[in-house]
Amino acid sequence: MTNPRSPLAELEARVKARPLPRHVAIIMDGNGRWAEQRGLPRVAGHREGSESVRAVTRTARRIGVEALTVYAFSAENWARPDDEVDALMQLLADYLDSERAEMMENGIRLNAIGELDRLPESVRGRLAAARAETAANRGMTLTLALSYGGRQEIVYAARAAAAAKGAELDAEDIEAALWTRGLPELDLLIRTSGERRISNFLLWQCAYAELHFSEVLWPDFRDEALLTAISDFQGRERRFGLTGAQLAGRARDCD
Ligand code: IPE
Ligand code: IPE
Ligand code: MG
Repeated sequence: MTNPRSPLAELEARVKARPLPRHVAIIMDGNGRWAEQRGLPRVAGHREGSESVRAVTRTARRIGVEALTVYAFSAENWARPDDEVDALMQLLADYLDSERAEMMENGIRLNAIGELDRLPESVRGRLAAARAETAANRGMTLTLALSYGGRQEIVYAARAAAAAKGAELDAEDIEAALWTRGLPELDLLIRTSGERRISNFLLWQCAYAELHFSEVLWPDFRDEALLTAISDFQGRERRFGLTGAQLAGRARDCD
């Protein structure tokens, strides 16, 4: 007799058996509260949060997600106290040093979006090296949103599209100039820590994404929480403006 599978393995098997979101994005929130609950400095929460990035990346890759985009530092986060910003930049540099080997082993292509020229050289150099080293990997694209703002991204894209097309520009031209160009359409946006807002993340790309809000604080968000979010997504009916009857008709036509 084979061993009974653990509840987590059962959940993973159920999730893998159904259509997966191609592109998952996460607002990784709650590091500070996780640390405060334990009487620790906020940076301890950020450190544990970087372990969650590792775990979630590994699981997303294993089940077959094509693109994972994580909000690691917002354009607005520059206004936090200097010592917290410095600690976050240091953690980012450490993360880039420690993850390169695993990215290569697992076929992960590293990508980054945001106003990257605002990052310190210690991060920019490591980011450029890791992106170059992993550029040919095809397993999953991991995109770090760093010094990122959704409004800022749309402004850059609109300027680029206007320079090329003038007043004739349309939505496709803006889409093609976004920092996320080339990634699959966003299917699922997750926010952790019980907050229910977008905080300037992927504003354009969220147009028809499914939203999942988890109460779990980011440092505690691991396999089970990710699989639960994807399972929730798999139970949704995505209508894209159509009626339920139209969707049923389309599904019949495809059979
Ligand atoms: C998310 O956790 C990480 C970043 C924004 C960099 P927070 O630092 O926002 O944690 P809370 O929301 O204060 O708990
Ligand atoms: C959003 O979290 C940014 C990141 C997760 C990197 P914040 O904690 O900065 O967002 P607000 O301030 O609660 O909206
Ligand atoms: Mg927060």
